[in-house]
Amino acid sequence: MRAAVVQVPSAVGPDAEPLTIVVATSIDFHLHYLERFHTNLWMLTAIVCLAAIFATWLAVLQRHAPIRRISREIRKIRTDQLHVRLDLQTVPAELTELVAAFNDMIGRLEALFQRLSDFSGDIAHELRTPITNLKTQTEVALSQPRDLEQYREILYSNLEEYDRMAKMVSDMLFLAQADNQLLKPEFATVDLNAEIQDLFDYFSAWAEEREVGLDLTGKPVRIQGDRLMIRRTLSNLLSNAIRYTPSGHRVTVNLTTADHQASVQVRNPGPIIPEEHLSRIFDRFYRLDASRQRSGEGAGLGLAIAKSIIEAHGGRIGAQSTTGATIFELSLPLVPCGDSQSPGGFVHQFNHFEPDRPET
Ligand SMILES: Nc1ncnc2c1ncn2[C@@H]1O[C@H](COP(=O)(O)OP(=O)(O)OP(=O)(O)O)[C@@H](O)[C@H]1O
Ligand SMILES: [Mg+2]
Repeated sequence: MRAAVVQVPSAVGPDAEPLTIVVATSIDFHLHYLERFHTNLWMLTAIVCLAAIFATWLAVLQRHAPIRRISREIRKIRTDQLHVRLDLQTVPAELTELVAAFNDMIGRLEALFQRLSDFSGDIAHELRTPITNLKTQTEVALSQPRDLEQYREILYSNLEEYDRMAKMVSDMLFLAQADNQLLKPEFATVDLNAEIQDLFDYFSAWAEEREVGLDLTGKPVRIQGDRLMIRRTLSNLLSNAIRYTPSGHRVTVNLTTADHQASVQVRNPGPIIPEEHLSRIFDRFYRLDASRQRSGEGAGLGLAIAKSIIEAHGGRIGAQSTTGATIFELSLPLVPCGDSQSPGGFVHQFNHFEPDRPET
């Protein structure tokens, strides 16, 4: 209720009491209106807030839909489905980089898985040949009584198979250690000329038999490296070169230095290694001539081991082949770099290293 009180002088006379006028009106209507307005405003605010929250939730749900879809697709990828790639066309622009990186990672995993499964298959194949030979020889030996000399021959023949298996297993162990970064060269001064000359002596009878000449050219080079590891690498390069050189030709080893690097080139005339094989001959069990694979000439691990050794020394190894010659070149830092100086790890593996046995 609102009211006003007014006093006015009486018109009856000066002594008359003044008149009091009271005017009042009810404002309940306005108060109710304000109260309703207040309530409505709160309700409206609450509704608008709820609507905003709901809209935001919907928007987030909508925007996250591609992420959820990608997650579902990723969850579906199992080890036997590593060929699956996420479709870049169906993801929002801001996710393409992430999806591309994921696809790359899956590609690398697929290649690694493939290599591992090929590796296991190769091991099984490689071990099958000597084991079959041993089994057949033993069965033949037992099929009838034999004299002492025959048993001795059979045992010698078995020994060759055992040697081959032992070499392969030790090579694989070496590569497994290299994969786990356990290859720790024991650095010492290595006179490359002396090492190569030693290997020439070792292979001389075999080379002579094959009518292959051996030449060492270039200047004397000393490096810091693990002598047995370097010897193992050079031995494999040399035995490969002698094996593939036609009779009447020569294998040349050339030593040079440049930019704090020592370079060893092993060059031999012979069959050309096609371009598509050049990058793969450093893979495990990789041999060019499939028909030689089971003939027991070599497991195809020599170059893979050479690569691991040279990389553990901070160097590089590569090959090139033209109609004139095949050249394997390795370069090694004259002074070792990195932390690979620390001893231990795998050193014991090399205490008994013998150069590749010349084939007869
Ligand atoms: N100088 C070369 N000329 C032609 N081909 C070569 C030469 N050196 C290597 N190769 C090819 O590369 C393949 C791999 O060589 P690698 O030394 O790794 O294996 P391997 O000699 O067959 O066996 P391992 O060395 O384990 O006894 C060889 O089988 C051969 O096909
Ligand atoms: Mg070899």
